[in-house]
Amino acid sequence: MTSSRVNSISECRGALESERAAGKQIGFVPTMGHLHRGHLSLIDRARASSDCIVVSVFVNPLQFGPADDFETYPRDLDRDLELCTDHGVDLVFAPEEAEMYAQAPVTRVTMRGVTDGLEGAARPGHFDGVLTVVMKLFQIVQPDVAVFGQKDAQQAAAIRRMVSDLAVPVEIVIAPTVREEDGLACSSRNVFLSPPERKSATRLYAALNRARELVARGERGVVRLEAAMHNVLSSDERIRVEYASVVDGRTFQSLESVMPGALAAVAARIGSTRLIDNAWLVPDVE
Ligand code: PAJ
Repeated sequence: MTSSRVNSISECRGALESERAAGKQIGFVPTMGHLHRGHLSLIDRARASSDCIVVSVFVNPLQFGPADDFETYPRDLDRDLELCTDHGVDLVFAPEEAEMYAQAPVTRVTMRGVTDGLEGAARPGHFDGVLTVVMKLFQIVQPDVAVFGQKDAQQAAAIRRMVSDLAVPVEIVIAPTVREEDGLACSSRNVFLSPPERKSATRLYAALNRARELVARGERGVVRLEAAMHNVLSSDERIRVEYASVVDGRTFQSLESVMPGALAAVAARIGSTRLIDNAWLVPDVE
C-alpha cells in the first residue's frame, strides 16, 4: 500500500486520531529526508514495536547555523515517499517551513550538560533547534515509540534526557549505526563527497576502530586514545579534524580513563562536507 502523505499539522493529527482510536501503537521516525539505509533501519525497528508507522520529513531550519548547509541540504521527497511505501510506512508527515513555523518561533527547548560539548560546542544553537523541533513533532504525532539512530549519539542522548526531564510519554529507542561496506556510516551528506573524498571518509571509522583496538589491548588513558584517533584522521591531508574525543556516552562529559559507557566520537571536514561518527569503547550498560 502507498504511504499516505500529509503536509499539515491538522491533517496529521486527524489521520492519527483514528489509528489511535483503533487501539494501534504509533511508532515514529523523525528525519530530514533524503532517506538512506540508516533511516530505513529505524523504520524497520519501529515496525517491530508498533502497528502504525509515521515518518516525518522536514529539513528543520532551527537546527542549522548561518555557516551550515541548510540551503544545500539534499532534498528528494518523491524518492523518500517511494522508499517509505516500500518499507510499509503508514503516514509520511512532510510539512513546509511555513506550516511548522507559521510565526517565527520564540520558544525553545534548551539543555545544558549533555549538549555542551562536541556537536554543541561546534554548532552553537544546533541542539536547541533539534530539541525544539523534536518536541513539537512529538506534540503533533504523539507517538508511543520513537526511534533515533546511534549515528547521532549526542542527539540521541539529549532526546532521551529531554523526554525524561519533561516527562514526555514516549518510549525512546536508539538503533545501531548502519554503515557502507567499507565502514563509512550512512549519511545524507555522503552524496556531497567526491570519489577521493569518499575514500578519505573511511578514516573516521578507521580512527574509531584504532581506539577500540587499543582498548582491547588494555589502553585506558583517554589522552592517548584521543591522540591515536587524531593521528589516523590527520594523516590524510583532505581531512580537517574538528574533534576526536572519548566521553561518557550518556552524559557527554569528558573522561580521564575508559570505563563502562565510554564512547569515542569524531567530527571532521572533508572538502566542504562535515561528517560525524562514533563507537562504544566499552558497551553502555542499559
Ligand atoms: P537525519 O539526519 O535525517 O536523521 C534522522 C534519524 O536517522 C536520526 O535519528 C539519525 O540518528 C538516524 N540516522 C542517520 N544516519 C544513520 C545511520 N547511518 N544509521 C542509523 N541511523 C541513522 O537527525 C536528524 O535528521 C534531525 O536532527 C531530526 C532528529 C530529524 C530533527 O530535525
